[in-house]
Parts: sequence; structure tokens; C-alpha cells
Amino acid sequence: MDKIRIVGEKRLSGQVEVSGAKNAALPILISSLLSEKECRFDRVPDLQDIRTTLKVLRHLGVSSKVVGSTVTLNGQSIASTEAPYDLVRTMRASVWVLGPLLARMGHAKVSLPGGCAIGARPINFHLEGLKKLGAQIELENGYVVAKANRLQGARVAFEFPSVGATANLMMAATLAKGETVLEGCAKEPEMTDLGNALKAMGAQIEGHGSDVIRIQGKDSLSGCHHPIMGDRIEAGTYLASAVLTQGDVKVLGISPDALEAVLVQFEQIGAVVERDLKGLSIRLQMKQRPQATNLTTLPFPGFPTDMQAQMMAVLCLASGTSTVRETIFENRFMHVPELLRLGADIQVKGNTAVIRGVESFTGAPLMATDLRASASLILGGLAAKGETIVNRVYHLDRGYEKLETKFKALGAEIERIA
Ligand code: EPZ
Repeated sequence: MDKIRIVGEKRLSGQVEVSGAKNAALPILISSLLSEKECRFDRVPDLQDIRTTLKVLRHLGVSSKVVGSTVTLNGQSIASTEAPYDLVRTMRASVWVLGPLLARMGHAKVSLPGGCAIGARPINFHLEGLKKLGAQIELENGYVVAKANRLQGARVAFEFPSVGATANLMMAATLAKGETVLEGCAKEPEMTDLGNALKAMGAQIEGHGSDVIRIQGKDSLSGCHHPIMGDRIEAGTYLASAVLTQGDVKVLGISPDALEAVLVQFEQIGAVVERDLKGLSIRLQMKQRPQATNLTTLPFPGFPTDMQAQMMAVLCLASGTSTVRETIFENRFMHVPELLRLGADIQVKGNTAVIRGVESFTGAPLMATDLRASASLILGGLAAKGETIVNRVYHLDRGYEKLETKFKALGAEIERIA
């Protein structure tokens, strides 16, 4: 099992290009189920979750070809409408095939994803929404069994702006009969990117990226060629490394708008941030120890839960006491015990962590538990005195492409050891 070894306290500086966004690529690759034509997507990151998605799609009959970061898919003939447990359990987002399969084939049998480290993660909003579009849905032996002669457009109001439910329903509605109005949608930039990809396939969609999305269903979709947006969480992670090492890092290939709430917090704690909206880059310089701050994770455009663990690593070394409130997932503080091993002073009360800033971290062996918690431990190691070993880095490989190569290019002493 791979580990990552870091010798900390190196000041990071330079430029790093972010890869395509994992959380845009996953639904966009899945949307190829809706089209009988060839779809080509550029800037698809080379990640474990992407390879799993292509495996699920191949199982369903969608052929794919990967050349560099360009993925070409062809969903001309769907061979199966069943996504089995042994595939879905390795990546919960596989459940997003439900909407497209129902819309395209009229039936689908998809394993319930089960929970994961950060929470129970039910899919009730997905199922309630599909029922509104006329699907009959049964739960049988851990599977969702769904049928619909043809989905009918309808008004669906989400009680919470769920990213997955928004993606599932947006895709399903593109082939439903008539108009669908989705209200209370997730506004994450990845949803805007999904809507743009669906439009490129000929879907009639407006309002994606806002809380009301209107979709006029079509009988079929065409192929497309669409570039995936940059990964804003990867960008935030590299910028956080500049804060922690009092460095100067410029991330390329990302719009500052995609993570403004994070940039505002970086400025709040004393960083100098340069936003280049045209050139799609962000530069962060940090000249002193960060100040404390208080943050609450919220749906976009609020502070993203996927940056909570990384920001906590920063606040552990700030001067003063900070609070971090996690409102999206019920169990997303698993990085806390590992940060304590580096010398952090954190107390968790319910969904709030109170962080008393300490002067420094001392390197230690650590255990990664989930994707973003692992990123937080890497950041901690980059700031710590001496050596840090992060174990179980397969969690990291789900969401960060060439992480150690990119950090090494910024001046970190970091290597992967088997
Ligand atoms: C997506 O997960 C992302 N995953 C997550 O990123 C991200 O943290 C999350 O959105 C929030 O931004 C992908 O895009 C592949 P939700 P998703 O539906 O769709 C509850 C990462 O690190 N809920 O917005 O599963 C749910 O339990 C991953 O890249 C229901 O109760 O998130 C959670 O508490 C981690 N019923 C909250 O809503 C439902 O039917 C937000 O979930 C659906 C969700």
C-alpha cells in the first residue's frame, strides 16, 4: 500500500496547472449514456474515480478510448441497464447512472451506494425527483429497480441543493417528454459545466448554475466535444500550501469565481490573492503567520465542504482561535485525530471544531481516511518540522492527479514510497 513521505518546512513557490475537475468529469462522462453518438471530452483527469466510472460505463455498453486527457465515448448500444454492487460500492457517484439509463432505456437496476466515511449519504432526493418524472421505483435486495415507459417532464423542488440529485435529474430530464423545472438546485460550478456539456449534446437547458433549471426534453441527443472545467478544490489545495509555507504559488487553468468563498477566507487570514478572471489563474502570496478566522461550510457559493479539511490544517497553525462548522456532511472531521498527531490543538463539539492555533507542527506517521482528509494531512506534513509519512494514499489518488509531482515542482521535499 503506497505511502507519501514529506520533509516539511520548505517554502513553496512557482506555478501549477490544475487538472480537469473530478466532480465535473464524473457526471459529464456518465451523460454519454444519453447519446447514441460519439462524445469527446478534453482535460479529463487521470484519477481512480475516473477509471472506475469508465469501467461502469463499459459494463453498461459504452465504449471508451483514452488518449492523454481526452476521453472519447460511444453509447450507441447500451448492453445492460444494471450497475452492480461490486462496482457501485467502489464509487458512490456511480448511482448517477440511474437518471440517464431510465431516460434512455426506460429501466435501470442500480445498487444502492451505501454510506461512506463522511456520512450516510442517502439518495432519497434523487429517487423522489425521478418519481416526479413518472418513474416507478422499488428497492429490492439493496438495489434500486426503476421503470418508466418514457419520463414525463415535471416540476421538481429539491428540499436541499444536492449536487448528485441535481446532476441525476438534469440528465434524466434531457430525454423526458415535455418541460421539466428543477427548483432549489445545486449551483456548484461543476453543475454549470455539466449543463454546458449537455447543451453541447443538443439538450435544451437554461438556468444551470442557478437554483432554477428549465429543461425541454428531446427525443435524442447528438454527440459533442467539450472541455472539462479546472478542478477548483485542487486549486484551493495548492493555494493552501502557499499559506502554510509562507510561499508564493500561482495556480493556472481555473476561474477565481469558482472558489471565491475560499479566496475570501485566505485574504481574511492575511494572504495576498491576485485574481485573473481572463487569464484563468490565481496567485497567492503569504508573508506571515496566518490569522485565525471562523468558517461554515455551505452549498455554493458558500465555503465548499471539500475544502474544509484543507483549511483546518491551515488554521491549526494560525495565531488565535478559529472555529470550523461543517453543515453538509455529518462526519467530516476524521482528519482531526491525525492533525492532533502533528501537534494541533482542536476540540470537536458536534459539527463544530474549535481550533487553537499552535506555533508549529512536528512530523509524524499519519493515516489517510478519506479523499479530502488526506489532502489536509499532506498540507500538515508540508508545514511540519521533520518527516511525515501519510499512509493509505489510495484515498488521495481518487481525487488528485500527480499530486507529489506537482508539489515537488513547487519546491516540496515529497516522494511516494511503496
Ligand atoms: C458531491 O457529492 C461531491 N461528489 C462531493 O465531493 C461534495 O462534497 C458534495 O457534492 C457536496 O458539495 C461528487 O461530485 C462526485 P450532495 P454528493 O448530494 O452529490 C445529503 C469529494 O471529495 N443528501 O450535495 O453526494 C447528503 O447526505 C466529494 O470530491 C441527502 O440527504 O453530495 C449530504 O449530507 C466528497 N439525500 C448533503 O445532502 C440525497 O438524496 C449533500 O450531499 C442526496 C444528498
